[in-house]
Amino acid sequence: MITAANFKVNHTRESTASYLEALNLFLDAYSTHCDVRVYPAASSFLKADLYPHVKLGAQNFYPAVNGAYTGEIGSQQLNEFGIKNVLIGHSERRVTLRETQDFIAKKYAFAKENGWEIIYCIGEPKDVRRNGFEAVAQYLLDEFEDIDTDYDKLSIAYEPIWAIGTGVSAEIKDIAEVLDMLKSRFKSTPLLYGGSVNTENLRQIISLKSCGGALIGNAALDAANFCKLIQIAQNVQKEE
Ligand code: PGA
Repeated sequence: MITAANFKVNHTRESTASYLEALNLFLDAYSTHCDVRVYPAASSFLKADLYPHVKLGAQNFYPAVNGAYTGEIGSQQLNEFGIKNVLIGHSERRVTLRETQDFIAKKYAFAKENGWEIIYCIGEPKDVRRNGFEAVAQYLLDEFEDIDTDYDKLSIAYEPIWAIGTGVSAEIKDIAEVLDMLKSRFKSTPLLYGGSVNTENLRQIISLKSCGGALIGNAALDAANFCKLIQIAQNVQKEE
């Protein structure tokens, strides 16, 4: 079970350090089978080995070791912190930052070459959702163009765009339908859900048979709340 906190553009270096200390302490005392990941802002990166129970990740990177890419960071910068975990394809990067599928595929290939763990995000906008499941499935599958889904360090996060940061999660039956469709195609790849996950709805989402975790924004910004979310995920017993 993966529980991942996406900080986006939140927290300072100082508050990220206190957050990670609190989280690592909690995980030290509370033995969990959850794979716990935190994606802070790049300016708040800390050495990954300071927090052995947490996997530190990058929300973004440029697919190069280093070079003339103003404003970006490459593998040289991630390696300095021992970061081996990345998000790729988040809708905020696809839509707001205008990343194309072609560029996303380049980032993916670079992350794979480096052996990094990847959470690859996909998700449909509201107008596609209005057209029903078949339209959603087609839209999501198109987001795998040039992506090697056989990569063994891949997890996929289904994040409907209209559910992100809105406080309105997708309906449980719709999440189930999409995750089951993805499961039938991508078999052993862990599947996460993201989009307004909170302490009220996580249990039901995680209990879905095809759900292997959650990617959480707002509700994970507070360390104590993220610890509660990890406990909820941990306590869900799945029938195998
Ligand atoms: P949210 O963000 O939990 O605030 O909706 C999720 C995400 O964007 O990954």
